[in-house]
Amino acid sequence: MHPHLETVLFDETTILHRLDELGAQITKSYAGRELTVLLVLQGSLFFAADLLRRIDLPLQVTSLQVSSYHGGTVSAGEVTFHQPALPDLQGRHVLILDDILDTGLTLATLRRRLEVEVKPASIELCVLLEKRRSRVAGVRAAYAGFEIEDEFVVGYGLDYKGFYRNLRCIGTLSDNSLFHGEG
Ligand code: IMP
Ligand code: MG
Repeated sequence: MHPHLETVLFDETTILHRLDELGAQITKSYAGRELTVLLVLQGSLFFAADLLRRIDLPLQVTSLQVSSYHGGTVSAGEVTFHQPALPDLQGRHVLILDDILDTGLTLATLRRRLEVEVKPASIELCVLLEKRRSRVAGVRAAYAGFEIEDEFVVGYGLDYKGFYRNLRCIGTLSDNSLFHGEG
């Protein structure tokens, strides 16, 4: 275990096994359609690489950098889009991929902007983790890997101050590591 972790919630084997199931579920739901997967960067990078190779459909991938945490362990309550334009996804079946659904503010904001400005044929959300907590009204992930308690986690794409994304597992940081941070 990484020395900065307090607990491991999901190891690599458990994550990849769950992605087998999610990939099969998405393949079945979208059968006969072309899919466009919109990655919310950077958190969804590792999740996307492993999940998308488990989906047996014609699909395209595009990405957007969006953030709401600004380096800490609680949502800043404000969503920042790091590029001015949204991708042209008019008439496409869009599956938005993010690492985690927390307050839901990020995905609610992104979804609303796409609906109004881009007009895709459909939009669904897919997240690796869902926190057990109250959320912005109406945000629901059609596909979710695991449900977790309302605690701060890192690894497998999830970061603290930009670090720990490359851990193979998902876990909680020890108080010591959170306090001093890595960056
Ligand atoms: P939301 O807008 O509150 O749903 O926050 C979603 C974003 O916050 C995610 O895309 C993550 O980047 C970040 N986030 C939320 N919870 C965690 C966590 O426990 N660890 C690391 N990042 C998190
Ligand atoms: Mg993120």
